[in-house]
Amino acid sequence: MMPLHPTESRALGAYRERFGGEPEVLASAPGRVNLIGEHTDYGGGFVLPCAVGRRVAVAAGRGLPDEPGVLFSSDFGEARPLQSEPGADGGSSWADYPRGVVWALGEAGYEAGGFRAAFAGDVPLGAGLSSSAAVEAATVLALDRLFRLDLDRREAALLCRRAENGYVGVQSGILDQFASLMCREGEALFVDCRTLEARPVPLDLDRANLSLLVCDTNAPRVLAETGYNDRREVSERAAKTLGLAELRDASPGDLERLGGEELRRARHVVTENARVLRAVEALEGGDFREFGGLMYASHASMRDDYEISTPSHDAFVELAREAGALGARLTGGGFGGCAISLVPSENVDGLKQATFSRFAKLALPRPDFYTFLPAAGARVVPGQPSGQAEANGGAGR
Ligand code: GLA
Repeated sequence: MMPLHPTESRALGAYRERFGGEPEVLASAPGRVNLIGEHTDYGGGFVLPCAVGRRVAVAAGRGLPDEPGVLFSSDFGEARPLQSEPGADGGSSWADYPRGVVWALGEAGYEAGGFRAAFAGDVPLGAGLSSSAAVEAATVLALDRLFRLDLDRREAALLCRRAENGYVGVQSGILDQFASLMCREGEALFVDCRTLEARPVPLDLDRANLSLLVCDTNAPRVLAETGYNDRREVSERAAKTLGLAELRDASPGDLERLGGEELRRARHVVTENARVLRAVEALEGGDFREFGGLMYASHASMRDDYEISTPSHDAFVELAREAGALGARLTGGGFGGCAISLVPSENVDGLKQATFSRFAKLALPRPDFYTFLPAAGARVVPGQPSGQAEANGGAGR
């Protein structure tokens, strides 16, 4: 059997302990960072994420006939019924993500029966690394295998987004779920969020002696949801003002017809889409310096035009520049969460130390750091009783 990710071993152990016996399927899915292309997905634009080495795993089996479904989290040490209304656990709950996937499958006409599932994850929660998309992606793969639904991965990603939008109630785009299901080890993924066409982009950081340093700012994410929805609304309104279905189709010249907030938001989206295209070219040509410059420009655009960065993000990006990073920027939805930097590996420690001391001086929350290499996307673990598929296979054509 191939080596298991620590979360896969834990999910397997939790299943055995909780339910007795062997699961029928073991699946897992990663969190992601978006390298560039922020707040472009819901306007039909371009994104460039890669998966990270932190995952959520689920071990699942069909259980006994007529037994109500059970979801167990080994991280929280709690069991939840599968059948439930959103928010029934009192506020938002991890269990709403797998429930949402079951709901979305039902809405799309797929029949998933009852099941028992044990979850284990190590994607930092609430950091903007898409732990919720990882839960959804692992769940949809496990259910695809368990009930032989024969989904392809694009369809699976769309179902996960539907779970997020229609059940959990967050109006996110397709970025996170698509990245979790489609990314591959050692590569970034260029995605056209309108057509869902995607192509791998080389990202050999080791060879370039570069590190992808992720700074979880731990900035409070109080405005995250309302702020996100507001940005989405204004950018959709800007498209309407221009007579366009999506901002993807706006040209720089169109911006002259906008003013005020609509102009600022649309200018970010239009320039960000252009930056993603240039970033892909830069990486394909092995030009990390050009790529890094685009990251800095992306950050400035998010700070000044989209207005989603925090003092912590801005301080980190400046420190990264001082430490010789090729690029740095906020990643994810903003209003808190993570920033990333592309930094020569020998400068990583210096940048971390400088950040700790500057943040302390500015009375900003103490950050956490991760270094990631582009990791594998979601998989059903081969060698499990019903998991004959290879990584990125199965619900994975
Ligand atoms: C969040 C959403 C994504 C995307 C990003 C911003 O992560 O879930 O769909 O909109 O914000 O790029």
